Amino acid sequence: MTDPQWIAIHAPVAMERILDRLKREFIADIDANTAIWDLFEKRLTHHWNRLFALLHQLYGWQYDFFYHLEQIVRTAAKSWLARPDDLKSLDGYREWQADWFQSETTVGGVLYVDLFSDKLAKLHEHIVYFKKLGLTYLHLMPLFAVPHGDNDGGYAVSDYRAINPDIGDMVELNQLAGALRNEGIDLVLDFVFNHTSDEHHWAQRAQAGDRHYQAFYHLFDDRGLPDQYQRHLRDIFPTVRRGSFTWHAGMGKWVWTTFNNYQWDLNYANPEVFRAMAEEMLFLANQGVTVLRLDAVAFIWKRLGTDCENQPEAHLIVQAFNTLARIAAPCLLFKSEAIVHPDHVISYVRPDECQLSYNPTLMALLWESLATREVKLLAHAVRHRSRLPEGCAWVNYLRCHDDIGWTFDDEDARRMGIDPVGHRRFLNDFYTGRFPGSFAKGLPFQFNPANGDLRVSGTLASLAGLEQALEQEDPQLIEWAVRRINLMRSIMLSAGGIPLIYLGDEWGMLNDYTFLSDPSKAADSRWVHRSKRKWEARDDLTDADTLQWRFFNEMVRLIGIRKQLPAFSNGGMEVVDSGNPHLFAYLRQGGGRRVLVVNNFSEHPQVMPWDYASGHVSGNGGVDLVSSERFPAGKDIALDGYRFAWLHIGEV
Ligand code: GLC
Ligand code: GLC
Repeated sequence: MTDPQWIAIHAPVAMERILDRLKREFIADIDANTAIWDLFEKRLTHHWNRLFALLHQLYGWQYDFFYHLEQIVRTAAKSWLARPDDLKSLDGYREWQADWFQSETTVGGVLYVDLFSDKLAKLHEHIVYFKKLGLTYLHLMPLFAVPHGDNDGGYAVSDYRAINPDIGDMVELNQLAGALRNEGIDLVLDFVFNHTSDEHHWAQRAQAGDRHYQAFYHLFDDRGLPDQYQRHLRDIFPTVRRGSFTWHAGMGKWVWTTFNNYQWDLNYANPEVFRAMAEEMLFLANQGVTVLRLDAVAFIWKRLGTDCENQPEAHLIVQAFNTLARIAAPCLLFKSEAIVHPDHVISYVRPDECQLSYNPTLMALLWESLATREVKLLAHAVRHRSRLPEGCAWVNYLRCHDDIGWTFDDEDARRMGIDPVGHRRFLNDFYTGRFPGSFAKGLPFQFNPANGDLRVSGTLASLAGLEQALEQEDPQLIEWAVRRINLMRSIMLSAGGIPLIYLGDEWGMLNDYTFLSDPSKAADSRWVHRSKRKWEARDDLTDADTLQWRFFNEMVRLIGIRKQLPAFSNGGMEVVDSGNPHLFAYLRQGGGRRVLVVNNFSEHPQVMPWDYASGHVSGNGGVDLVSSERFPAGKDIALDGYRFAWLHIGEV
């Protein structure tokens, strides 16, 4: 940070000058509602020194820093004045209830609108379904205007203020947000802020030669700099294209494109980009979005000689966006999507940066444990790498729209006697079904021949063995697959944080291979787990003989139990030694209750010896809140293959 004394002297002067000019500009609005303006000034004053310091650190070296500073504050003021009243009330409410998302009653779901209900407007009909499941947080996958054909599943945005016309429009989004809010469901959208599509009007003007907009992106006349950068960069989609730069013949320039060649990385070293994206962010907040998922956050700042991931400035940019949100849309929260090394994942999670974050380490290691039937790496990582600062929460998930990458720490693995390179190869073989005896049916994603890297695609049910078991029509294998799925759910729901269900998984959706015949999708195996929701199957959810029914109802039941248990609200999982390599055990406490969660990752019965449990369980033993079974004191805790127990073990 810049010298605090210097900030304390200069920040207030800058604010006074800016406010003076803004008050003249917005005089009509201020006269119409002084209280609303006062609230803005109050929040601005409260957060000013921080905002000033962050922006000064990022852009203070520019000769026209003050100009940009003023533009940024003007953007915030305009957006606040345009903010609907009901959202302004929610802002006030949530400022006092800042920890709302940490409650055990918070449960999330994520879906693609086109795959789930065809149209945005039709999503209203499904609110009943969301409520039945118990959702209070709904993430709609990117639904903005995008190029036709390949658009990376919506992650190549051409206009942040327009909905893809195939599914609806902004008015409908606004209405949906209101309807969800009335039902106690928060609307979550993506903020795809690392890049725009090459059809965004900024990119188009850049292509037409407009220098102002060319400065929005990272463009290079020749290979000089790209070659220097490239030496340290990782290929994200190596099967699509090697290297991170794309030649644009029209401009005669190289464009930085970390992902696909039509996704142009924005240049955040340009304060105008920061301001313009802040405007888009606050626009989305004013539509009723209360959580923004910060897509590909790790990549937003470039520095020569580094891998251009997780740079210090990436944090400053997000903190500056966060501060603007506190001023102009206080109920807006950020969720970090950094699928990187566990230490970097955590580095984005702070109340003043991203209050929420995906928990890719837990996700990947749950799959790791399912393959190996051993929990040592999982337990180690949860013990040492999962504690978050106060006021934050993990978003725990089993599957999402993306692939699974084995992002565990290599040193952790070695400490556990595991060779990280060989182990990743084993996991990839296991989940793509190449390892003899594997139950999983997944597809390889983005094999990189240069370093052997590979990731895995597939649905929860197919990766957990259901697809293969059904093909073999083997009741024992089916039973194991069902139990594996419930085991994974047990942890997602009882680990501290927001459980996030990739909709379809609640009823056991299998892989869908039809993407292979669509040329715009065939090369991207992630489409195997992005399947069209078959609502015909909804009837099955009332037919108790079907697996879908079993999955759906078990999910509803487990969520119901979670919601009654303050011990499952946010907070760390205290991993306990189960004395058994196959049992993952941890304590959760809260609301006066203590719960010992024990999960058996083996298909064989296992016991947690009483000696290991006795230090945690009271003299009365425990009761499994899921099965109501009693586990008397003095006896080993015995669990059948792939079973789990949420043991109420006493009051605190
Ligand atoms: C994110 C998305 C992923 C997309 C990428 C580029 O990581 O989750 O689906 O391909 O960003 O936007
Ligand atoms: C990489 C990126 C992540 C992205 C994913 C897409 O893992 O780190 O941001 O979502 O690739 O497959």
